[in-house]
Amino acid sequence: MILECQLNSDRDRLRLRLSEQGWVERTAWRLYGTGCFCAPTIERVQLSSCGTRVAIRFDDGREGLLEATDLSPQGPPTLVIRNIGQLVRFDGAGRFEAVPDAVVLIRHDRILAAGPRAEVPVPDGQAHVRTIDARGGVVSAGLVDPHTHPVFAGDRAREFAMRKAGATYAEIQAAGGGILSTMRATREATDEELFRSALRRLARMSGFGVTSIEGKSGYDLTADGEIRMLRVLRRLGARSAVDVSPTLLAAHIVPPEFVSDRAAYVRLIVEDMIPRSRDLAVSVDVFCEDNAFSVAETVAILEGARDAGLQTRVHAGQFHSLGVVSEAARLASLSVDHLEQVSDGEFDALARTGGTTAVLLPGAALTLGLPIPSGRAFLDRGIPVAVGTDCNPGTSMTENLPLAGTLACLQMGLTVEETWDAMTRTAARAAGFTDRGNPVAGAAADLVVWNFGHYGVLPYHFGVTHVRSLIRQGVEVQLESE
Ligand code: NIG
Ligand code: FE
Repeated sequence: MILECQLNSDRDRLRLRLSEQGWVERTAWRLYGTGCFCAPTIERVQLSSCGTRVAIRFDDGREGLLEATDLSPQGPPTLVIRNIGQLVRFDGAGRFEAVPDAVVLIRHDRILAAGPRAEVPVPDGQAHVRTIDARGGVVSAGLVDPHTHPVFAGDRAREFAMRKAGATYAEIQAAGGGILSTMRATREATDEELFRSALRRLARMSGFGVTSIEGKSGYDLTADGEIRMLRVLRRLGARSAVDVSPTLLAAHIVPPEFVSDRAAYVRLIVEDMIPRSRDLAVSVDVFCEDNAFSVAETVAILEGARDAGLQTRVHAGQFHSLGVVSEAARLASLSVDHLEQVSDGEFDALARTGGTTAVLLPGAALTLGLPIPSGRAFLDRGIPVAVGTDCNPGTSMTENLPLAGTLACLQMGLTVEETWDAMTRTAARAAGFTDRGNPVAGAAADLVVWNFGHYGVLPYHFGVTHVRSLIRQGVEVQLESE
């Protein structure tokens, strides 16, 4: 049984899934501003005999009786979005559509129906059904960021200034800066500090219309520390307005403890970290580059991940084309990311296998002054393309996915329609989500009501937020962008 209740005020919502044994999952929201509300841990939940009241006790001592609404899958919608000027969606063949005069019906955390008003009858006479008036605005699936590094301590503003004064990324890394300086700060931070700072980043992401992300570990580089980062990522997904698909990126660089025995670090990842990540991570990533991991090391790690039942992905071709893209395609990796340098053979391998998404990260190319890869080169070969922020302290310090979309559209040759696809449908697949990214019946009820009437505005009017309302799992997260 699924129950939703209001806590204290209008703004705090709690959703519980209850089984015979008690509550099994809960999600809490504060319906304003940052879109994030961290409820204290729930100690006890008890359903009354009539099944509509929940006795609840938090670990901070608060307790009380809450009225709950039964949100079981059968029955009428719990939320209706009407007066939609354009519903952005993709047909069965993946073609972009902007459906005019549309409505979306939601029940609990799923879309019941979505389409033209004439085809989707809105049940009337149900006063309790919550309605959102989109006022002629565009409605789309919640955006999905398929490549982020949101959990880290400190920042690298000083290094940014050094780079702008002439030092290169590789020089800074060789001098103990770069990923290593974030590693030191992250190792020193408490779980709570990491969680809180990442929560603020996720709140900024949701402010731009993002409801799901792929999020990587990779700034601790010890076995326990990487597992700790995965736990923080899991907790963020459960306690914020943004869902998280966690990725183990222990192979970010070789940590100082292992520079004289790289093979031992690769073994540690394969034999210890990957098995321990099984229940925490969805995928395993490797930074395959001259100063990070070789193609052979990358393949060993990705095969270890695959054998453990995890998905794989690679930071590939950021500075050099090493041939790892073909290996990732062979291993049916979810994604290959960056791709500033890709050889013809690698393009062919991706096109042949077809299932691996090319994730473009224009924020990193912009920050590092790298050659801008052509998105067209992938799309014209039938290779799916997604766009991510690469949100990280070193090479792309932004939470603004639509801005990355604008850069992909303006500099990488994507059409506006392909840009939407790259931030929703294809991004969801690259991030490892199978139930979102396209607002169709049965999909997760993660949606954005935008404050513009034509879908072209998102890449066109860049750098600001256009979110009027964000809906995650059928719950409206009010944002104040107007
Ligand atoms: O995706 N390329 C490797 N990893 C990150 C940068 C990480 C950092 O500099 O902290 C990236 O660009
Ligand atoms: Fe990255």
